[in-house]
Amino acid sequence: MKVAVLPGDGIGPEIIAQALKVLRKLGLSLELQEAPVGGAGYESSSDPLPPATLALAKAADAILFGAVGDARYDKLPRAKRPEQAILGLRKELGLFANLRPAQVHPELVSASALKAEVVAGLDILIVRELTGDIYFGEPKGIRETDGEREGFDTMRYREGEIRRIARVAFDAARKRSKRVCSVDKANVLETSQLWREVVTAEAAKYPDVELSHMYVDNCAMQLVRNPKQFDVIVTGNLFGDILSDEASMLTGSIGMLPSASLDARGKGLYEPIHGSAPDIAGRGVANPLATILSAAMMLRYSLGEAQAAGRIEAAVAKVLKAGVRTADIPTAGARKVGTQEMGDAVLAAL
Ligand code: IPM
Ligand code: MG
Repeated sequence: MKVAVLPGDGIGPEIIAQALKVLRKLGLSLELQEAPVGGAGYESSSDPLPPATLALAKAADAILFGAVGDARYDKLPRAKRPEQAILGLRKELGLFANLRPAQVHPELVSASALKAEVVAGLDILIVRELTGDIYFGEPKGIRETDGEREGFDTMRYREGEIRRIARVAFDAARKRSKRVCSVDKANVLETSQLWREVVTAEAAKYPDVELSHMYVDNCAMQLVRNPKQFDVIVTGNLFGDILSDEASMLTGSIGMLPSASLDARGKGLYEPIHGSAPDIAGRGVANPLATILSAAMMLRYSLGEAQAAGRIEAAVAKVLKAGVRTADIPTAGARKVGTQEMGDAVLAAL
């Protein structure tokens, strides 16, 4: 099985190194091939997504991705900025289904900004559409209108795009608590009106799953008021971007959460949901657990190694139980460690 490993920028290389350590320890026959992406891609070949990196990703069975982005590249034209690498990979590989689980590990309840009783036992899955919406809709640009500049983007969804992400959500719900909440802004947006109609029609094929609808502003509020009311949330690209960051903080740290971005056949890109954190890059303090858990998701969803995935997840749980903590998840009486020591602790637990 071929895995394209794309560490990227900032803390990307540090956290990916820990995940690779864990993967190698499992003794599976994985061919791990690294390539530059994001700012690192720009440095190597003036392109955030160098053609060779894209080719490697296309040929692989799965992609393990670190993070991209650095303020150094903010002044470049948009097409050269690091973020274009991840957007390009999603689009080029047809990775339309983004799964972002937000679970609270029992040991980290006190690391959440919310009261323990609000988050204890939380287990949400956000299913975010990833290749459509205002992110990719045309036309977009900045134009001259009546003597001043005007910026514009286009929110659009086709029925087929809505239907296939709805199915992913309903299928996922069947393996969980069988509830899907579809999030939109149907009181204002035409795109959302269609979204709601198509999701509702698709739900008829899943009589065992309960469907509800919620406006995105209300959802943002409900996520901090009573997050445990949710099982699976399905939503578009832009709303999902925002709500998944919000949901991550319910769990104590954005440094804990893995994600999968899947195509129609189960090939996927796996990445922590946090970014490149340039402020702490190179200091050896970043939390590698989201990346290690992303590697576990990769084994489960794309490489048919559910047992190995379970081993990694159990090892992470054991390490947390033992009170080993990176700086982002401080809890009383914990042993504070850096990135490498955290990786070593997971290896030892394996
Ligand atoms: C994410 C990120 C990306 C997004 C950025 C880096 C383009 O915020 O994966 O959530 O907006 O999708
Ligand atoms: Mg985001």
